[in-house]
Amino acid sequence: ATENKALITLFGATGDLAKRKLYTSLFKLYQKGYLADHFALLGTSRHEMSDEEFQEMVLNSIKDIPAKDGEAEEFSKHFFYCAHDVTKPEHYAKLKDRLAELDKQFGTEGNRLFYMSMAPQFFGTIAINIKKQGLLTDNGYNRLVIEKPFGRDFDSAKKLNDELSQTFEENQIFRIDHYLGKEMVQNIQALRFGNPVIEALWNNRYIDNIQVTLSEKLGVEERAGYYDNSGALRDMVQNHIMQVVAQLAMEEPVAFTDDDVRVEKIKALRSLRVYTPSQAAANFVRGQYGADGSQPDYRHEDGVDPESGTETFVAAKLMFDNYRWSGVPFYVRTGKKLADKFTRIDVVFKKPLIDIFANPNSGNEQALHSNVLTVFVEPKSGFALQLNAKHVGQGYTTEPVDLKFLQSDSAKKESPEPYERLFHDALEGNHTNFASWAEIAYAWKFVDVIRNLWDIEKPQFPNYTPGSMGPAAATELLARDGRKWVYDL
Ligand code: BG6
Repeated sequence: ATENKALITLFGATGDLAKRKLYTSLFKLYQKGYLADHFALLGTSRHEMSDEEFQEMVLNSIKDIPAKDGEAEEFSKHFFYCAHDVTKPEHYAKLKDRLAELDKQFGTEGNRLFYMSMAPQFFGTIAINIKKQGLLTDNGYNRLVIEKPFGRDFDSAKKLNDELSQTFEENQIFRIDHYLGKEMVQNIQALRFGNPVIEALWNNRYIDNIQVTLSEKLGVEERAGYYDNSGALRDMVQNHIMQVVAQLAMEEPVAFTDDDVRVEKIKALRSLRVYTPSQAAANFVRGQYGADGSQPDYRHEDGVDPESGTETFVAAKLMFDNYRWSGVPFYVRTGKKLADKFTRIDVVFKKPLIDIFANPNSGNEQALHSNVLTVFVEPKSGFALQLNAKHVGQGYTTEPVDLKFLQSDSAKKESPEPYERLFHDALEGNHTNFASWAEIAYAWKFVDVIRNLWDIEKPQFPNYTPGSMGPAAATELLARDGRKWVYDL
């Protein structure tokens, strides 16, 4: 591994994400040698804390990761802390001095990575002050890694982006979408562009429809405060689902570089049909979970408005108006308190134009099934291809069989977690697995139409039972097109 020399400034250093994901990811990069002597992290938040206390906190968050003797302590010595009120310009002067010292002490050569992992209303203020108060360097790189949510509609996202742009250029900004850090989401491109047998059929001549499911078993848990203000459309559709769909729909990039991939994803999202309000009403389904035994319905969860109209489920039909996809629906769905926790993609191919086996005299009553290519993203990782084959035995009937590849448990264990991958990519300056502004802008413009409609019309909630796959209308959405969800209960 090549060492990345970097000085990281983390806004939100005592937050949940930092403790659960960021320190563990950095530690794994350290163990693999991607980070070594020449890195340091300056953590900030409003709490007062000494460097030693901060180092203890970091040690505590990585305590479950197997390590060599003394490795964790050595790692923790790269962490420093500075209490900071992001709204006070004079506080940035303190940061500036600390950063200058650390840069010298650790030989990070002016490479600065600013990481925002805190309440989004401060993202813009921090970015502006980073420049104004002189925290940027001229001798290394300056990069910004920014957590979601990136705005709550197009206008607020644009405002945030304009603020960030006062300090950072687009190629210095890394917007996190952790779905892009998932092994099997990254695998979509290898599957498509590495296999003529797949890509040759990847169009409206052979594909009937594509289904994307991001299903969760848990409810809102402790995040009701955030979630009730957001809803599944903003929380999962605008970002994760759009990013997955863009990779499924995009054209082949000229080369596998971040710029080339980005261009194609943007083009794909640009051809996503933006609905009129009445089209939106016809093509989007929302749901909210009801009670289940002793478990309260969504409206009675702690921190949720008892009259909340927030959706915990979304299903939709998306259409791309381009040469490749014209006429092929992309059905997507996501929700809380569904049957199980999993993410999968089902690509349903068209049936043969003529079914020569459907001859009543041959005894084959069952028509041919559709070929289905399934990408298992999580918790299983792999692919399955459903084909039609001859049923073993006398006579001639057909039945569906599966070709299947699942990653082994040991391969999965070795696969880095999304945050480790994405941190590493940001340190290397690779944008492939981050969302560009244009992608986010198109996604918001698409989603805003639905949101506006839903904000006006009062929903009939609750409308689905925990442990189901959502409201009946989600089944109806496909049934009216003569189709079914491949994964169903
Ligand atoms: C987050 C959402 O972005 O993704 C959560 O805010 C959701 O509500 C989570 O639970 C799902 O991610 P994963 O990786 O567990 O599928």
